Amino acid sequence: HRHLIGIKGLTEQDITYLLDKADEAVKISRQREKKTSTLRGLTQINLFFEASTRTQASFELAGKRLGADVMNMSVGNSSVKKGETLIDTAMTLNAMRPDVLVIRHSSAGAAALLAQKVSCSVVNAGDGQHEHPTQALLDALTIRRAKGKLSRIIVAICGDVLHSRVARSNILLLNAMGARVRVVAPATLLPAGIAEMGVEVFHSMKDGLEDADVVMMLRLQRERMSGAFVPSVREYYHFYGLDAETLKAAKDDALVMHPGPMNRGVEIASEVADGPQSVIAEQVEMGVAVRMAVMETLLVSQNQGPRTDGMMA
Ligand code: CP
Repeated sequence: HRHLIGIKGLTEQDITYLLDKADEAVKISRQREKKTSTLRGLTQINLFFEASTRTQASFELAGKRLGADVMNMSVGNSSVKKGETLIDTAMTLNAMRPDVLVIRHSSAGAAALLAQKVSCSVVNAGDGQHEHPTQALLDALTIRRAKGKLSRIIVAICGDVLHSRVARSNILLLNAMGARVRVVAPATLLPAGIAEMGVEVFHSMKDGLEDADVVMMLRLQRERMSGAFVPSVREYYHFYGLDAETLKAAKDDALVMHPGPMNRGVEIASEVADGPQSVIAEQVEMGVAVRMAVMETLLVSQNQGPRTDGMMA
């Protein structure tokens, strides 16, 4: 079985294949009749141990638009509450013969672990601070559709990079596609060794946004911080929040992106989030298309498309 665990291991060709396929899925989703029979007879289980609006809803719609039977496991009402482990839960569901398990979990490596245990495809919908590959793919699709390419595009990823699996997957993908990636954050919200990931590091929004084609804001993940390391919201917004004035440092036609959920008034002002340069709603639309492309590639296109570590055979 083939899995999508991360962007790491995917080549430029793999990513281009998935984005091209997702462009086709956008067309399907824009028709009145959105349902195809590509995955008819196949079963998809969504297993989300962490909260989600966008990812879970779009994986569900993606499966349904491809004609699969989709089951959302309600972890909050499951025997996980009685102490059943991740592996036992997954093996129980595996015994019901799904064709794909979509998993979100707070531990880095959870999706890779499941992929070794179950007898179906596994898609990582976010594992701890490790990766969120379908988010990076939908962000790339949004950028490519607006700018026509990814190579040599300047992308400034701003804010809480330290806790962000979205940032990590985006850095890997954008570098693989030849984009120029910057991170803009206080030193306390950057992981050790970030410069070795092939990014330029900035500590000021004005400097980091200069000439940027894309300004990608990240959510301040206060739930993953503790004690003295939780920044004051007012101070954070003052130095690292994106408002109309701060955005002027980027190119006039720069895209404003945010993976969601947004903290309005913390990392982004409403005037920008809802402004003319915002593509936040497009990102959500592309999310359904990218997840359709990934599931079709894993479950149908057996002899085509990526065959790498990211899409483990
Ligand atoms: N971007 C993203 O993963 O959003 P959700 O947590 O709502 O799925």
